[in-house]
Amino acid sequence: MRITDTSDLWWKTAVIYCLDVETFMDWNNDGIGDFEGLAHRMDYLHELGITCLWLMPFYPSPNKDDGYDISDFFGIDERLGDFGDFVEMIRMAKDRGIRVIIDLVVNHTSDRHPWFIEARKDKTNPYRDYYVWRDHPPRKKEQPVFPDQETGVWMHDPQTDQYYLHHFYRFQPDLNVTNPKVRDEIAKIMGFWLQLGVSGFRVDAVPFLMDESGVQAPEAGLKHPLDFLKSLKAFLGRRSGEAMMIGEANLPRGAQVDYFGGEDGDGLSMQFDFITMQSLYLSLARNDPAPVVKALESRPAIAIESQWANFVRNHDELTLDKLTDEERQEVFAAFGPEPRMQVYDRGIIRRLPPMLDGDPRRVKMVYSLMFSLPGTPVLFYGEELGMGENLSAGSRLAVRTPMQWTDGPHGGFTQFERPVRKVVTGGYSPEHVNASSQRHDAESLLAFMRTLVARYRASAEMGWGEFTVLKQDQPSVLAHSLVGAEGHMIALHNFSGEPATVTFPVEDAGPDHQVVDLLVDGVVLRVEDGTVTLPMDGYGYRWFRVIGPDDKRLG
Ligand code: NOJ
Ligand code: CA
Repeated sequence: MRITDTSDLWWKTAVIYCLDVETFMDWNNDGIGDFEGLAHRMDYLHELGITCLWLMPFYPSPNKDDGYDISDFFGIDERLGDFGDFVEMIRMAKDRGIRVIIDLVVNHTSDRHPWFIEARKDKTNPYRDYYVWRDHPPRKKEQPVFPDQETGVWMHDPQTDQYYLHHFYRFQPDLNVTNPKVRDEIAKIMGFWLQLGVSGFRVDAVPFLMDESGVQAPEAGLKHPLDFLKSLKAFLGRRSGEAMMIGEANLPRGAQVDYFGGEDGDGLSMQFDFITMQSLYLSLARNDPAPVVKALESRPAIAIESQWANFVRNHDELTLDKLTDEERQEVFAAFGPEPRMQVYDRGIIRRLPPMLDGDPRRVKMVYSLMFSLPGTPVLFYGEELGMGENLSAGSRLAVRTPMQWTDGPHGGFTQFERPVRKVVTGGYSPEHVNASSQRHDAESLLAFMRTLVARYRASAEMGWGEFTVLKQDQPSVLAHSLVGAEGHMIALHNFSGEPATVTFPVEDAGPDHQVVDLLVDGVVLRVEDGTVTLPMDGYGYRWFRVIGPDDKRLG
C-alpha cells in the first residue's frame, strides 16, 4: 500500500456537473426548482456517474444577474429551500460519492446587499471602504464585461457625489479586496460553507477579484494581487483537508501559470481551459484538429496538484474573445450566423447540438474528445441529453432553460403552469429530448455519456498522464496518447465527415502488447511494427487502452 494516495487530489480525476437549483427540478410545484427536487434527482446524477456537483449561486438575491448579484452570502434563497434542505442534499450527494462545490461570488455584491446600502449613505460610513470609490473615474477607460448594458465600469452615486467601481453590471458594485476587513469577510464566507459540508468553490471572476489592474487602492497596494489568492488557498487548506478552488479566469497562458501558483501549485487548484475550448470551435468550423492541438500544446507545465478543467459549453455565452477577429468570424459564420445568436461581439448563446445541426455523430465526437483530453471534464446540465437553447429567452438565459426530464408539460420540470423559465420549443423540446426516454435507450446520447464517464473514471491517466499528439498522416484526425503510471491510453477523433484510414504509432509496444477498444466492447487490435492501422468513420471517435504482458489492468 502506498501511503500517499493520489486520490487525495480528487479533482484531478473528477467528473464535474454544473447546475442551477432554480432550473433543475421543482418539487413543491411553485414553478421554481428547489433543493428538494435536486435531492430527488441525486440518483439520476449518480447513474450518470458524476463525482462532483457544482451549484450555481443559490443565495438570496434580487436576481438581476441570475443570482450572481448576491444580497446575503450566509443565506439561501427561500424560493429554493432552507438550510435543512441544503444539508440534506449534501448528505445525499456524499452518500453516493458525489462532492458538492459552490459558486463563490465575492468580486462584487448586489447593490441591495446591506454592506452597500450602508456604504453609500455617507463617506464616513464604516462600510464605505468595503467598496471602491473615486471622485472622478480614472482617465484610462476600462471596458465593462457586459458592453450591451454598460458603457463603463464607474457609476455615479448621487447620494455622496462619488463614483463606485463595477466591472459587471452597475447593480454589482465591486468589493474592495485591498481592505483587510473585506478579506476577512471572504474567509468567513468560505469557512461557513465548508462547515456545512461543501468540498470547494468555483471562484467567480478571479482576475477582477484579484484586482490585477490595481485600480482598487494602488496606494494601499496588495504586495502582489496573487498573494491574496494564495492566502485564500492556505485558509482552505487549514479548514479542510480536501477542499479545492476552481477558478473562472479566462486569461492568456502566462497569467494562468501565476494563478495556479506556478511550480508550487499554491493558487487555484483548477482553471477552466478557455483557450482550448475556443480553439475547439475553430477546429470544428474548419474540420481540422490543428487549432485545438495548438491550444493543447500551448498549455504550460503545471504543478502536480493543479489541473485543467475541460468544457464544451457553460452557463455563459460561448466566448470567442481569445481568437483573432478573422477566426471569430469563421466560428460565428459556422455556428452562430444570425445576430440574435451572438452577444457582446464576442460570443454565441447556443448549445452544442443545434450548432452542429443536430448531427449525432459530430456531437458524440465532441464529447468523446472532451472526456479524452488531459484534465477533468465539466458538464453543464442537459448536455448529457443533447438539450438545445431558447434564443428568445434573451442573451445568456438562452442556455439556462429548465432541465428536460420527461416529454410532459414543461418537460416534467414542474407541474405549475408558469415555470420560472420557459422550456425549449421546436426540435429540441422535451417531446424530442428528455431524460426519461433516453434512460431506457441504449443508443441515446445519455447512454453514451454514461459510458464516457465510466471509462474516464476508470482511466486515471486522463487526469494524470502525459499528453502526446501521435504522428499519423490523416490531417483531419487527432490521435493522442496519455501515458503515466496509471496506464497508457490512445484516443482518435476524426474532425471530418469523410472516413479515413489511420496508421498510428503505439509507443514502446512489442508484439505481445494488446490494444483494446474501450468504447466498442471486445475489439482487440494487433500492433505490427509498433503501429496499428484502423479505418475510421466520418466524425469517428475511438479510445484504446494499451495493455502489456505484465499489465493487470482491464481493457
Ligand atoms: C461570471 C459568471 O459566470 C457570470 O454568469 C456572471 O454574470 C458574472 N461572473 C458576474 O458575476
Ligand atoms: Ca419549487
